[in-house]
Amino acid sequence: MASQASQVLVAANRGPLSYTLADDGTLGTRRGGGGLVSGLSAALAEQPEALWICAALSEGDREAVRRGVSEPGVRMLDIDPAVYDDAYNGISNSVLWFTHHGLYNIPREPVFDSEFRRRWDSYRTYNRAFAEALAAEAAEGAAVLIQDYHLSLAPGMLRDLRPDLRIAHFTHTPWATSEHLDMLPDEVRRELLWGMLGADRLGFHTWGWAHRFMSAAHLEDERGIAEPKMPSGPAERYIQQSRRSKVRHRRTDVAVYPLGVDADELRALAHRPEVDDRLAGLRAEVGDRKTIVRVDRTELSKNIVRGLLAYRELLTAHPEWHGRVVHLASAYPSRQDLAVYRDYTATVTAVVDEINTKFGTADWQPVLVSVKDDFARSLAAYRLADVALINPVQDGMNLVAKEIPVVSEAGCALVLSTGAGAYDELRKDALTVNPYDVSETAEALHEALTMSAAERAERTKRLAAAATAMPPATWFTTQLTDLRGS
Ligand code: G6P
Repeated sequence: MASQASQVLVAANRGPLSYTLADDGTLGTRRGGGGLVSGLSAALAEQPEALWICAALSEGDREAVRRGVSEPGVRMLDIDPAVYDDAYNGISNSVLWFTHHGLYNIPREPVFDSEFRRRWDSYRTYNRAFAEALAAEAAEGAAVLIQDYHLSLAPGMLRDLRPDLRIAHFTHTPWATSEHLDMLPDEVRRELLWGMLGADRLGFHTWGWAHRFMSAAHLEDERGIAEPKMPSGPAERYIQQSRRSKVRHRRTDVAVYPLGVDADELRALAHRPEVDDRLAGLRAEVGDRKTIVRVDRTELSKNIVRGLLAYRELLTAHPEWHGRVVHLASAYPSRQDLAVYRDYTATVTAVVDEINTKFGTADWQPVLVSVKDDFARSLAAYRLADVALINPVQDGMNLVAKEIPVVSEAGCALVLSTGAGAYDELRKDALTVNPYDVSETAEALHEALTMSAAERAERTKRLAAAATAMPPATWFTTQLTDLRGS
């Protein structure tokens, strides 16, 4: 065990920052992307003793590990790049992400062949690297909070290495429906569930996702693998697990912690001079037109293409909006190592071009798209938003849905699909839509654009209150307290 053993440890694929390697060999840093990193970074700012274990993602990260460069409280694991690629691209993002979000194009995928099994083996190796690093760094009885689908096996592996630890796992995505989970080979599905059940506590963003997990564990029990028992309680449900072999008997608690945003911090970030500059630039482009804003990674689950089709249908069905509305869409690149993501990005660009060509005039460009991960521009767009469009097919939470109402200056109408985890908390004050129904989404956009200023302001106030109910620091400390107390 390390001499400076930690009492609180976090494990996630992505770290709070990533290193870039310049041609002259100098290392630079940049902030990691995605909801998990923004939530955890904010939470850990108030836990200075905590250790965040993450993977080296890039050549820059690997070089930093080799040179012994690190930030306080962060340890990067230099996992063999080929193993990493199999685990991250081959399994986490191509199989588990698609399974949990139900994204497969069924006639063609998934295909579970020997190549898949080879990659699954790398996924095990990757999870083991995390379990071993956690086991080495954790003090006796320490609390370990493992994050997300990249690390589904690590709780069980860590349990075997260090039975003294308190282990939690949090899933930032949806959990798969049983139909999708059952597509996995039996032994893989069992390993996945058994790995998760190695934790003392499992956290999800909504009860919907948590119930899916519990039914999967139930079903597996009926098939003779685990033995879940679920006495119902208002705040928590329990899963009692045991192996038929009676090797271990433990209890795994399942709970829901809906991550929210920190209003003060977000407003401070949104009012930096850099954001003011971007806002001035956007205002000059938009003029006095209304804005529909979306900000996403170019991600299949975010449903960007149907969102654009809905905007196109709005312009077709309601020509009165021609020249009076602009769609500000940030769709910054993500997971471009995967062909399906590159294709999706190309489709997004093609649909944007088609809309601009079809409807645009000399002084009006209907869609302004930004493909850069430019946080300042995104915040400026939030401030300018009259309407926020958040229409994922499925999304663990979707923090953008919570951020825009907190920051928008004139109050915004939120068009929100039933697939977002945030739907549970925000639906009462949002205009809710079926993510597949483009016409319904187009009509919701029209309704949002025509909502009175007073109603918009009222709804925005309530949306912002719901969005800030569990800011990251509370989200984290509540889990920590529950983990230590359970
Ligand atoms: C989601 C996942 C995170 C992930 C993020 C960005 O929010 O739940 O675990 O980090 O997407 O994806 P990436 O593959 O770029 O890390």
